[in-house]
Amino acid sequence: MTTAVLISGASRGIGLETAKILAQADSPFDCIVMVARQSADFSRAYDDVSARAGNIRVVAIPADLSHPEIVEDVYDRLGTEGISITTIINNAGFTKPASINESTLEDFELTMRVNLYSPFKLIQQALHRGHPLDTIINIASTAGITGRSGWLTYSASKAAMINMSEVLRDELKPYGIDVICLSPGRCATDLRRKLAPTEDPSTIMQPSQVASIIKLMTSAAGKLLMAQNLVVRT
Ligand SMILES: NC(=O)c1ccc[n+]([C@@H]2O[C@H](COP(=O)([O-])OP(=O)(O)OC[C@H]3O[C@@H](n4cnc5c(N)ncnc54)[C@H](OP(=O)(O)O)[C@@H]3O)[C@@H](O)[C@H]2O)c1
Repeated sequence: MTTAVLISGASRGIGLETAKILAQADSPFDCIVMVARQSADFSRAYDDVSARAGNIRVVAIPADLSHPEIVEDVYDRLGTEGISITTIINNAGFTKPASINESTLEDFELTMRVNLYSPFKLIQQALHRGHPLDTIINIASTAGITGRSGWLTYSASKAAMINMSEVLRDELKPYGIDVICLSPGRCATDLRRKLAPTEDPSTIMQPSQVASIIKLMTSAAGKLLMAQNLVVRT
């Protein structure tokens, strides 16, 4: 059977490192689908992953996940390309840190659309369209376990992601679909720079380290990981 992984937020940070590591010769996948918004960075990321991929097929699908309904177009394109998804890595993430006084409902909704509703749609469409899913990896955050001052919308979206993963793990188990939730701590990416602008990125976890944990999760040994919400942090 062909195995295909869909990685959202694959243009940079943890998502790009995950696509790169899953493009190596020992990859469990025959096909890697990268999703992010159309940009020069995304084109470069696609070229980078393709150059490493050897016989593994790499497909880039541009989509703005702040509009969850676009997920239908993503699956239409998968249909056109003849790709059946076996693993979804819900990694795309957005944050706009602000205090309760400064937070707007608009920004809260945007955060929820990217961090929660699109992941929900990516999973639901795979089920509705009969993709042979066996693994779902949802990237939440330690911010979803412990709320932090100034991170209201982001922390709330990630807490919801942890809880949605719990529900799905229970609900999809009878269908042979494993649902794993991974909550990284601080990791040196653009998103982290927004949350902690003065921090030295060389002192914290690197995106390639999180990507190696994700790779483990996609392996046969990774199937033995029974943690409901796996935390990785320095
Ligand atoms: N870095 C950390 O400290 C940390 C800690 C815990 C959890 N996480 C989580 O890890 C995941 C990856 O984040 P990262 O740290 O690697 O951040 P990043 O480098 O900023 O990357 C975020 C990714 O999400 C994509 N994305 C954002 N908005 C999008 C939209 N509207 N439509 C489609 N894609 C969108 C971006 O693609 P484009 O902008 O190119 O579209 C990019 O590929 C996120 O879920 C984040 O919450 C990060």
